[in-house]
Amino acid sequence: MLGEFVPRDMAAKLATRGRALPEHLIDFSPDTVRASYNRHPFLVSHHLDQHPAFRLPTLFSLCRRLPLSEVKYRVGVIPATADFDSSYARFSKGLSLDDVLDRFEESRAYICIYNPERDPAYRPILESILSEVAAAIDECDPVITWYSTYIFISTQDSVTPYHMDREMNFLLQVRGTKHVALWDPADDEVMSPADRDRLLSMFGSQRATYSPSFESKAMHYDLLPGIGVHHPFIAPHRVTTGSELSISLAFTFRTQKSDKLTSAHAFNYLLRRCGWLPEEVGHSAVADEIKVVASNAAKVPISLLQRAWRARRMAT
Ligand SMILES: [Fe+2]
Repeated sequence: MLGEFVPRDMAAKLATRGRALPEHLIDFSPDTVRASYNRHPFLVSHHLDQHPAFRLPTLFSLCRRLPLSEVKYRVGVIPATADFDSSYARFSKGLSLDDVLDRFEESRAYICIYNPERDPAYRPILESILSEVAAAIDECDPVITWYSTYIFISTQDSVTPYHMDREMNFLLQVRGTKHVALWDPADDEVMSPADRDRLLSMFGSQRATYSPSFESKAMHYDLLPGIGVHHPFIAPHRVTTGSELSISLAFTFRTQKSDKLTSAHAFNYLLRRCGWLPEEVGHSAVADEIKVVASNAAKVPISLLQRAWRARRMAT
């Protein structure tokens, strides 16, 4: 399982802890957060570009001491329209991690370090960011339930294909430049109500795919060292690096509110599979609350069904 669940007692103290920190790694503007958090992308400034833990040799040492499963990589030129989920397997070209680290720039590599918060040297830094984010969003989205971080290291002109994730994100640029295109997840042309339900379903959720007709609706952000961008919940995005080596941190997280939305969408997906045309999530607070309760009640029998289905597939 990726990421870390935040225990309730820890979640209750995070915002207070974040406000009490003597030095901040991210500079949030309360007015901007109040106006735009989880509605529109917005830029933040931060100080990770001056932190020794995010220099290239220190990060390569981290890659070498982490379990291999925590360091994913691709090499070569990846088409912007490549399938995101299969891109690591398709574009690793049989190279080992040591090969990639030793010839990083010449192989035009892209590395994603999964969950550096599990490393004792990085955990305090990332928990500090967790507290800062909790303090920043406390007024509008008060309980963080889960977080997961990723460090991306890429050579010039690399592309993270169009996709959407099942959480919120602050993508913080540490070195080099990145161009981030983001789309409004509430735009029915970009993601239909059925697409949103399927993305957040409990049955092998699937991402909605890109169409060139979306291009004119993209919101564009240029990231430099010390600048980051907020991705609202499930906002589709595509990221390209500039003409030099790039390092960035993605701080992704879920909250009580986004967990409820996820449960309501998951229940809608079940209704669709049964042939119903459910009311869209977000149209009625009462209907959404009922779906959350129903979805949570259905989780145990569904997980048993999923286990039985997987066992049957393995046996055949
Ligand atoms: Fe992403």
